Amino acid sequence: MLMKLLENCTGAFSVVNMKKISVGVLGATGMVGQTIVALLDNHPWFEVTEVAASEKSAGKTYEEVMGTRWNTSSDMPEYARNLKIKECTPKLDCEVVLSALDASVAETIESDFAKAGYAVSSNAKNHRMDPDVPLLIPEINADHVDLIRTQQKARGWKGFIVTDPNCSTIQMCIVLKPLMDNFGLEKVIVTTMQALSGAGYPGVPSMDIADNVIPFINNEEDKVETEPLKILGKLSQGTIKNADFAVSAQCNRVAVRHGHMECVSVKLSKKTNEDEIISRLESFRPLAAMNLPSAPKRPIIYQRNQNRPQPKLDVNLENGMASVVGRLRKCNILDYKFVVLGHNLVRGAAGAAVLNAELLKAKGYLSG
Ligand SMILES: NC(=O)c1ccc[n+]([C@@H]2O[C@H](COP(=O)([O-])OP(=O)(O)OC[C@H]3O[C@@H](n4cnc5c(N)ncnc54)[C@H](OP(=O)(O)O)[C@@H]3O)[C@@H](O)[C@H]2O)c1
Repeated sequence: MLMKLLENCTGAFSVVNMKKISVGVLGATGMVGQTIVALLDNHPWFEVTEVAASEKSAGKTYEEVMGTRWNTSSDMPEYARNLKIKECTPKLDCEVVLSALDASVAETIESDFAKAGYAVSSNAKNHRMDPDVPLLIPEINADHVDLIRTQQKARGWKGFIVTDPNCSTIQMCIVLKPLMDNFGLEKVIVTTMQALSGAGYPGVPSMDIADNVIPFINNEEDKVETEPLKILGKLSQGTIKNADFAVSAQCNRVAVRHGHMECVSVKLSKKTNEDEIISRLESFRPLAAMNLPSAPKRPIIYQRNQNRPQPKLDVNLENGMASVVGRLRKCNILDYKFVVLGHNLVRGAAGAAVLNAELLKAKGYLSG
């Protein structure tokens, strides 16, 4: 009785006694990988037992490789410093792998891990559009995790792969979801201003980007135009029927460290007004009942000052997990236009992969 009471009171009893789920980070030395390492410091459900990267990093301690490359504002976590970096082969001592691998190698390595029985939560583009791989944003399509069953059956895998979307897609889709559900969505036009950390480490040469804007990011526009249709689609009988709207994207690299800004115009099916749209955005709290540790309390924050959002001021709201919206107004071509900002390394990558892993645990796809 006392134990039951304690559990009900705070949940602290169960957290203290719960065995943490072991996690390996693939690509742990990159921009996204190190952000995962930082986010999992003292995580209530997960514990990093392995870090892995290319053969040039393997065999050294995490601190030896990352001492001069650590690029995250918090200190390198103590737990990670002496971990020996391994190669990315499916012999790691963990149940789950969070993959932040370069796309040139992610396809085969992630499949090898899933085949060997690991749960893979990936940031890479390679498997996102596979018809049997969930492309998850838990606030939008948590039910798509059930594609895992189709995947395992079709491929004969003991493990599985789930993916998170492109860093520009995620923050925009979180805003499109309440618009689609409440007003119907017909067309989206988006122009992005994407941060330097979106290009990995060391990324764009400083001589190319200083005092400049580069109006091209390889393959980015295609991802921003196609991924939302799968994410906002419906899962039925083991397949996803894509959402029925069109997206046109123009993507630019700008000299900002973290935080992708996007100017978005939308055509809606129903008539509405600014107040109603803002109210729907601010009340969008689909994960409130699930208690996932990394889920933002406010997935969408609306900034009423006319010069917000700004990367410098808003990128870390809700620990970097919010889509920060502002400047909602009428559009002369479509219906409404607004600006949305998201932290590309957190909401757009590392935090998204961690949140997906939390969803997997909550839905019974992991032990513990
Ligand atoms: N940056 C973002 O905002 C962002 C957002 C969403 C998605 N993503 C995706 O997330 C992934 C990681 O991005 P990133 O920005 O962190 O890139 P990054 O900084 O270039 O890091 C790439 C990682 O992949 C490892 N790697 C490279 N070649 C390898 C090989 N042959 N075998 C094993 N490991 C290898 C690197 O290890 P070494 O250090 O040992 O070379 C490093 O740990 C990419 O697929 C990217 O498209 C990035």
